[in-house]
Amino acid sequence: MQLDKILQSQGFGSHKECRKLVRDGEVKIKGEVVTDPFIELDENGLVFEIGEWEWEYTEKVYVALCKPEGYECSQKPKHHESVYHLLPEPLVARGVQSVGRLDVDTTGLLLFSDDGQFIHAIAHAKKQVTKGYRAITAQPVEDAQIEALLAGVQLIDEPEPIAALSARKTGERELELVIDHGKYHLVKRMIAAAGNHVERLHRFAVGQLSLEDGSLPELEPTDWCYLRPKHLALLGYQP
Ligand code: URA
Repeated sequence: MQLDKILQSQGFGSHKECRKLVRDGEVKIKGEVVTDPFIELDENGLVFEIGEWEWEYTEKVYVALCKPEGYECSQKPKHHESVYHLLPEPLVARGVQSVGRLDVDTTGLLLFSDDGQFIHAIAHAKKQVTKGYRAITAQPVEDAQIEALLAGVQLIDEPEPIAALSARKTGERELELVIDHGKYHLVKRMIAAAGNHVERLHRFAVGQLSLEDGSLPELEPTDWCYLRPKHLALLGYQP
């Protein structure tokens, strides 16, 4: 593929802007400045540098972010900053979307991609990939609440009770649960229906991909990383 087209496909601007980037000497390949925007290159596995960043050509891109508190998962946020401001501009420009959403006050693992099939498989398919959450609750966690979450709780506006795949008390006012649904405020509503109230919520895992077991690089709040084929495999996804 032509270098200017490669850059455009990766979110570095319009055709014209990408040609200018190259002509201005902003693009390096294997440490050498390349000034011909029309040079034909094999894009597969191509690594290039722009400014201080090193980029790798990918047909589709998959990203994991450790979402901090106080960020909205909307491109046009109303009251807070957008999670999209935490990603480099070219990723946003090439059209990555968050895979489902987390509430403003929820922290933890949030995935992004420009692969519509992936987003559907993880967040919208009937049989969704599991999500693991840790909640700090207002009241002490009671066995009856765990039992209710496992048996299924009836939520307003839902036709049937929704059950956690697993739920366990992990502290006096802390519980972990795994669910495979992705409805609005679901965990908070389930815990409320079980008789408690969520004060803080953290998503530590999506499928077998976890912020806590070494399956991902260590990510502090606001950090992001690319997802490689081995990570996608842990989500049961093959591009
Ligand atoms: N459930 C919630 O209630 N909030 C989230 O952010 C995610 C799941």
